[in-house]
Amino acid sequence: MRIKVFILFISYLICNQSLSFSQTKASYPQRFFDPGKLTEVGVYYYPEHWDESQWERDFANMKALGFDFVHLAEFAWAHLEPEEGIYTFEWLDKAVSLADTYGMKVIMCTSTATPPVWLLRKHPDIAIMKENGMRLDHGARQHPSFSSTFYREYSLKMIEKLAQHYGPDKRIMGWQLDNEPRPAADYSEVAQQRFRDWLKTRYKTIDKLNKAWGTAFWSQVYNDFSQINIPQLSVRFMNPHQILDYQRFITDETVSFLDDQARTIRKYASPDQWITSNYIPEYGDGHLRASKEQDFPTYTRYQVFGENLGIGPRGYRLSHVERIAMANDFFRPVRNLYGVMELQPGQVNWGQINPQPLPGAVRLWLWHVFAGGSKFTCTYRFRAPIYGIEMYHYGIVDTDGITPTRGGLEFKKFIEEIKLLRKAYNPKAKNNAAYEARRTAILYHHENTWDMQRNKQTTQWNTINHVSKYYDALKSFGCPVDFIEEQTDFNNYKIIIAPAYQLIDSSLVKKWTAYVEQGGNLILSCRTGHKNRNGQLWEAPFAAPIYELIGSKIDFYDLPLPETPNHVLFGNIAYPWTSWGEILLPDNGTEIWGTYEDDFYKGSTAITFRRLGKGTVTYVSVDSQEGKMEKEVLKKLYSRLSIPVLDLPDGLHIEYRDGFGIAVNYADKTYTLPVPENVKYLIGDKTIPTAGVSVWVEN
Ligand code: GAL
Repeated sequence: MRIKVFILFISYLICNQSLSFSQTKASYPQRFFDPGKLTEVGVYYYPEHWDESQWERDFANMKALGFDFVHLAEFAWAHLEPEEGIYTFEWLDKAVSLADTYGMKVIMCTSTATPPVWLLRKHPDIAIMKENGMRLDHGARQHPSFSSTFYREYSLKMIEKLAQHYGPDKRIMGWQLDNEPRPAADYSEVAQQRFRDWLKTRYKTIDKLNKAWGTAFWSQVYNDFSQINIPQLSVRFMNPHQILDYQRFITDETVSFLDDQARTIRKYASPDQWITSNYIPEYGDGHLRASKEQDFPTYTRYQVFGENLGIGPRGYRLSHVERIAMANDFFRPVRNLYGVMELQPGQVNWGQINPQPLPGAVRLWLWHVFAGGSKFTCTYRFRAPIYGIEMYHYGIVDTDGITPTRGGLEFKKFIEEIKLLRKAYNPKAKNNAAYEARRTAILYHHENTWDMQRNKQTTQWNTINHVSKYYDALKSFGCPVDFIEEQTDFNNYKIIIAPAYQLIDSSLVKKWTAYVEQGGNLILSCRTGHKNRNGQLWEAPFAAPIYELIGSKIDFYDLPLPETPNHVLFGNIAYPWTSWGEILLPDNGTEIWGTYEDDFYKGSTAITFRRLGKGTVTYVSVDSQEGKMEKEVLKKLYSRLSIPVLDLPDGLHIEYRDGFGIAVNYADKTYTLPVPENVKYLIGDKTIPTAGVSVWVEN
């Protein structure tokens, strides 16, 4: 008996380890994908939108274009459970079997973004209540609240049926939970109560909460958890610590709802079915990396919708090179694997202005997604809608249901090109060694972004832009970049940049220090270490906990007016800045790399560098207007560390994956690639035009 219990215990440990987030980051989800296929391509199809007599034709056309899989049932709850407890899977069975007939696998979705009207009418309180008291209603989507107990119950009941039906089905390759799930504020009574319960679990006593929220300020003190309400986010002077906790709460609500869905599916899913969700790469959204139950994350990307101006007067038709690059580098490190669930197939309908993408743009984006290491790319959607709120949105085929659009043909071309790469694939091939030697991590935490957003101090500050200045510089050096979290093993990286890392604690400072002492090279920038995890300043000199590490003290910070920028002098060039500058008092032995150029603090220190143990710490106390200063500082550092970097022109990115070199050009001019003469081009060549792609193998 004892032995049996022991064996059970050991197998429990083994099973749990295989699913644990941190232990198996590198290997666990890889088993879902055949490395030799490199990547697969899929498409959304909504059979419920079309006459059943057309389904077979549509599946045959998807196959003819080369798609490997199809994405089904995303918003189909009303068709799957038309009345409470009455499930109708026959129509979906038919679609799954047609996909199979035409040799395509299926991603099955949980349609929780669109509950049926009977559920809303039975429980109107499942819908979100806005801050002004307005309750959302049936007729759009994403109106239910993740805090509603009824909504969770009904969702899981429906998902259980779906999972019982399709979990054992080999034709289903994986599952998508919800659609673009995001934390949303809900002021309903149920949500208020869940917030109070969440706070009780976090703080145990009201005294601790009062301290963490600094409620002595303005008589905000609470006697009991029952007195607490969700903060009114539109009120300018709301308690910032309360808001920080509320953002954590709605993030947890999103994560726990998705994880409940995943656990329900996993009870029935065959071991080769994976579970994911399709996230919008909004880097302030804390839930993007938090799920413990999903196998890996995927993202959705729309590039051309009248914003993202790109390079030159037509740059808006291609978008900015950073959009896909940064999403790749943000999602991949979570599980060392990612996919893209929606990639824009052509013109969209929901921007303020909805231009046509440049011919070639869709193929460019597909290659760019691939370059980051993606295992698949899927697109929204096969047929252009002819009714509903998304009319005028392109699909892979036109409104006639059969004629491929330009984007559709670009998908076809990419699918054909990938077949060429599969033939050339060498499982033993290594990525270019100089590229790998440049690998750099950016340490990022969404809570810093939230906190600075509420506490900006100047309209000029934008956290994501600040991070992007470092990111863009790294990409122009041709660096592979991983966005990492605090629990990541820092020693995997020779260089780590932690831009504007505002919320810290002593264990993080210790981890940074140990990393540097053991030979790591850390770059910290302005606004780092100002506050504790409750978002409160230290009862000490400004950012005191990082002084020893950076080898400087901070005298004060300044925020000039946008009309009269100040300048920072680095390497004989004066760079304008307006958004943040800390005036440093360096210790003896700390090198001064940059100084302030104007005003009453002219000549004082702005940028420092120091050695500590076997490593180095660079502190950049200022955020330049255009990011050119950040690039030059990094250039100097990489040169000090003897790490050669490229100097890629604007809009040109180069990545390596599976031994293939891939270049994408978002610029308005043709470039010559800075790669050796003796490489063998599989796609394109050394000369790369606007929207061009080149792919090569070396040796
Ligand atoms: C996405 C969404 C899809 C569809 C698409 C239209 O954000 O996930 O369901 O609405 O936009 O471009």
